[in-house]
Amino acid sequence: MGPPIIGISKEIERINDLIKHVADTGLNIVISGETGVGKEVVAQNLYQNSPRLGKPFVKVNCAALPEGLLESELYGYEKGAFTGAEQKKRGKFELANGGVLFLDEIGDMPLLLQSKLLHVLQSGEFAPLGSEKELKTDTWLIAATNHNLELEIKERKFREDLFYRLNIIKIHVPPLRERPEDIPHLIDYYITIYTSKFNNKHMLKPGSGVLQKLAKYHWPGNVRELQNVLKRVLVLGGWDEIIDELFISTPSPESPAAVDPLSLKSMASFGGGLLRRDDIQLDSFSLKEIRRQAVDRIEKEAISYILEKTGWNRSKASKILKISYKTLLYKIQDLNIQSTME
Ligand SMILES: Nc1ncnc2c1ncn2[C@@H]1O[C@H](COP(=O)(O)OP(=O)(O)OP(=O)(O)O)[C@@H](O)[C@H]1O
Ligand SMILES: [Mg+2]
Repeated sequence: MGPPIIGISKEIERINDLIKHVADTGLNIVISGETGVGKEVVAQNLYQNSPRLGKPFVKVNCAALPEGLLESELYGYEKGAFTGAEQKKRGKFELANGGVLFLDEIGDMPLLLQSKLLHVLQSGEFAPLGSEKELKTDTWLIAATNHNLELEIKERKFREDLFYRLNIIKIHVPPLRERPEDIPHLIDYYITIYTSKFNNKHMLKPGSGVLQKLAKYHWPGNVRELQNVLKRVLVLGGWDEIIDELFISTPSPESPAAVDPLSLKSMASFGGGLLRRDDIQLDSFSLKEIRRQAVDRIEKEAISYILEKTGWNRSKASKILKISYKTLLYKIQDLNIQSTME
């Protein structure tokens, strides 16, 4: 079903430990974390380590359906319960009986349905729409959310009483950027999977320079984004371009690349100390030559500054400097600009 939870960070170790401890308790669980961090993988691993393995694992995405449809999806309905209900339909609560009901995006469940869910949790029973009879349910509820439910409670978007019923065990999966030590392990794992899946024997393992950059990247899409990067590298056959793209397309709020690189203050300082007299050869002294040297020096300083700010991301730097990528490469060579980072 799901992959093992790959990673060596203490956060991932803690999660793997927690899974072993709670998997046979059947206690309700809320898994929180940003998109793509692996909340569903955690749910799958809980199930795989539990005595319910082999029974159904049923997933409902509470954000994907409007209120009415979500209700009938969860609880089912009798024939004739409402116009259009031509057949009896069994709800996910019934289908998940004996197994796991994974409520994804629980933070998006409308308030009315939250009340109904609370009732089910309290009584252990539910009635399909249009039915008088309550059915007993024995499902292990695992919920996931990328919202901050505590905040939603304050804003009255999430019921506090439901929260305490659900959130008996809380598993928070931290974003990838907070555990960069997991990145090489995830890469190894998925390179093995993708090379066999796509029958590609030449997938390049990233070198240490690339790994350093990957560790600095913001990863807004977390592990899912890393998977996509690996697939692109696999298709395009190299890391460099793709790494550059990463830093252009999603500058992070914290990454230096997103800081306005040319504030007026820093711009002004580029002019300082221009005419260092010992640098000027008298026989080649001409205003034109001075201008050339001055321009070179300012350009060198500006380009170095931007390259440093972007972590030597040349594509991003060329965009900021508003010159072509090629021109930038040429200037780096011509002006003998060297990285202090590599
Ligand atoms: N620690 C991990 N080890 C191996 N694979 C992982 C790990 N974390 C995530 N993945 C993989 O990354 C992808 C995204 O994970 P998953 O679907 O569980 O994220 P999610 O938190 O549920 O995201 P969303 O909020 O967008 O639904 C999946 O293919 C999953 O298998
Ligand atoms: Mg998910």
